[in-house]
Amino acid sequence: MVSNIFFKQIKGLIKKTITIKKKKRVETMIEFLYGIQYIMILVILHQTTKSIQPHVIYGTTFNQSSLTTPMLIPFISFDNNSKLIIDRLTAEEPMYHFVEYENEQDLTELFINSDSSLSTNGSTITSIPIFTGVMFNEISLESSVFNYSLVSADIFSDLDSGYSLQLELDLLQSFTELKSGLVMNQNISVIEFPYESSFFNINTVLFIIYLPLFFMYSLQQLIMLIVTEKKERIKEAMKVMGLSEGAYWLSNIIVQITMNLILTILMEIIAYSTGIFTKTNPLMIFIMFLIFSLSLIGIAFLLATFIENPKTAGGVSSIFLLFGISVSAFYQFYIKSRVPSLKYLIFLLSPAAFGEFLNQLSTLESNNLPVTWSSNEFLIPLAFMVLDFILYSLISWYSIQFYQSEYGSSKSFFYFLKSSSSSSSSSSNNDEEKKSIINYQFNNNNEIIDNIGINIKNLKKEFKNSLDNNNNKNNNIIAVDNLTLEIKKDQIFALLGKNGAGKSTTIGMLTGLIPPSSGDATILGMSMTHQMDDIRKHIGLCSQENRLYQQLTCAEHIELFSRIKGLEEEDIPQQVLTSLEEVGLLDQRDQTSTVLSGGQKRRLCLAIAFIGNPDVVFLDECSSGLDVYARHQIWKLLEKKKVGKTIILTTHFMEEAEALAETIAIMTKGKLNCQGSVLELKSKFGLGYNLILTFDNSIGSSSSSSTSSPSGLKKITGIEKPFEKFLFEHFPDCLPMPTNRDLILANREDLELSYSLTQQDNADLSKFFSSLEQLEGEFHIKRISLQMKTLEEIFLKISEDQ
Ligand SMILES: Nc1ncnc2c1ncn2[C@@H]1O[C@H](COP(=O)(O)OP(=O)(O)OP(=O)(O)O)[C@@H](O)[C@H]1O
Ligand SMILES: [Mg+2]
Repeated sequence: MVSNIFFKQIKGLIKKTITIKKKKRVETMIEFLYGIQYIMILVILHQTTKSIQPHVIYGTTFNQSSLTTPMLIPFISFDNNSKLIIDRLTAEEPMYHFVEYENEQDLTELFINSDSSLSTNGSTITSIPIFTGVMFNEISLESSVFNYSLVSADIFSDLDSGYSLQLELDLLQSFTELKSGLVMNQNISVIEFPYESSFFNINTVLFIIYLPLFFMYSLQQLIMLIVTEKKERIKEAMKVMGLSEGAYWLSNIIVQITMNLILTILMEIIAYSTGIFTKTNPLMIFIMFLIFSLSLIGIAFLLATFIENPKTAGGVSSIFLLFGISVSAFYQFYIKSRVPSLKYLIFLLSPAAFGEFLNQLSTLESNNLPVTWSSNEFLIPLAFMVLDFILYSLISWYSIQFYQSEYGSSKSFFYFLKSSSSSSSSSSNNDEEKKSIINYQFNNNNEIIDNIGINIKNLKKEFKNSLDNNNNKNNNIIAVDNLTLEIKKDQIFALLGKNGAGKSTTIGMLTGLIPPSSGDATILGMSMTHQMDDIRKHIGLCSQENRLYQQLTCAEHIELFSRIKGLEEEDIPQQVLTSLEEVGLLDQRDQTSTVLSGGQKRRLCLAIAFIGNPDVVFLDECSSGLDVYARHQIWKLLEKKKVGKTIILTTHFMEEAEALAETIAIMTKGKLNCQGSVLELKSKFGLGYNLILTFDNSIGSSSSSSTSSPSGLKKITGIEKPFEKFLFEHFPDCLPMPTNRDLILANREDLELSYSLTQQDNADLSKFFSSLEQLEGEFHIKRISLQMKTLEEIFLKISEDQ
């Protein structure tokens, strides 16, 4: 059953697209004007070309004056009388050149080898490319026998038969004149019948080539929107927050069809009022245009899957449409009469199927007839356009699954076949691994549900090295290397690591943005590889990059994501207020994201992550770029929000992790290096303390052993030695530390000394302090501070060790 959230998501997305279209006013206006302008040009062309219809082609007339170049006539003579006729004819019409041949075989060879030039008496005469020969059989003037045959190259060709007929009449005339001794003043012509052109109908050409372009701009707009959402990774961000792919597609179809519906109605009003269409039912044309626009939406989905750049996508969609129209025209004007069955292949291009209907429409409308509902020219194109839409959509749906893996080890294009086979050893290994994870999940179900929010097992991600053209697996980048990690529920978990350690990749895999190369994880007991759709109902994400719509305001973003999360309509205004207030963006609620500062954009992304009160929230460097005040505000917010939630946080601010996180894990080169609470890490790494002492300046001034440093500060050497002696007695392995602190001392003459102590027992420390208390006056100590090493120092040490 389709859930309630599905419709809320559709509503959210439709509102989003309409808001964007309203804000991109010029483009939206052009979208309408473009279609209208097309139909207006069609009206003008239709009106002005009406006068030359019907299109009649008049036949050719042949007579002696048609012969402008010599006509060579080979002949065979079986009778001497034939020479008389030839001489007479040649005298009357000098364009006839008779050339005698011995027998029929010679004549046939001549015909086969002829290139429209014949040699006579050593000289070559170029003739018009007509081949008509004469075989004189028997000629007798006395007994009126005139027995001869004409040999013609192509008796069906208008041109050849026209000239042959003309020759025949001239031969008859010569014979008659010779026999009677009279000169006949005859003027005989061979005239071809006139015929009406069934081929060149200006309306058909206009309709087939012109009308499919009607939706071109709107197709471009759609594909550019889809590709922009893909390129800016906003669609992915919405999917992580629970957006279903179906809702995304359906919302685009609804908006696009609505736009095209308005366009089609406008087009019909113009077309019917100007007489472009008169007899055909307007509903039929309406249905055909809408179904054609639906098939174009399928094309947009298909092309958007493979193209990464919005402008390229716009260009390619136009080329695709023009290609479809060219194929359509080629089919209608050339292939249809020769190989009609090719239509079943050609109509897989929807503009060609649409062309079939348009051809019929123009032919019948020119004859003042309607296209009928039951005609094949309506039903077949209609069925094909629906089929095309389904076909394009299925291919793009399938390609989305395959193409999303572009980040790294991509799925095979035939992954659907592989999933059912377990023959290959690597896939069976993977299956085993998955089974063991699922078993683990079942066996320990209660424990996991109770305590563990996220359980990562051997998670690995290998990226293809883009610089490696040989696809050598050894050169792959291992971003996450068999990571195994448990994250308890209801706490803030900080994932630390140097740049490139694999933090974002781990979050990407856990949120389903990046497919893992191997391994699995359970989130709230659900498997990442098998139940991502269910997991996404429970998670929120603030990714490292800001994924925001340029045209939407802060409030509109919160509204959109509230609907994606399935919030009730009446709760959305309150959600907008609360979310923006929490991150301090209430003043900017109506600002579009383009005018927000970097820190404000981060805060908006953070607000989005918490919409719908998700159980698990991933925050990837959510505080980067924030000022100190804003960062502290965010810390307070996270403290407040963390109740009942598992928050996974990555940050490069150690004090942030120290202040917020119950558990800290440090990753290096894709592997987990250490994990524990701050105290646990500090004690585990045995880094101990920093001892910082400030000595009174009166010592320096009274001591003769003071020296001046180049900076003018007094460096007291007299006190250092005895103090260090005392210190080393208690802590033999302590080390003096460089200090810059003397530069910021209240009294510039004070002396500050710092020492690094390794991990110490509490008893040793208290013994040292009680001894020091007794000697405090002797050493003139002003201040003593003992600080545990910071997380930053642990982090640096771990990073240095790698
Ligand atoms: N799409 C990708 N293609 C190839 N390599 C990638 C890709 N994404 C990440 N990597 C590589 O994977 C490694 C881990 O990257 P990741 O973004 O997870 O690091 P990170 O710990 O989040 O770093 P940062 O602190 O800088 O955000 C890096 O070496 C990076 O170059
Ligand atoms: Mg990162």
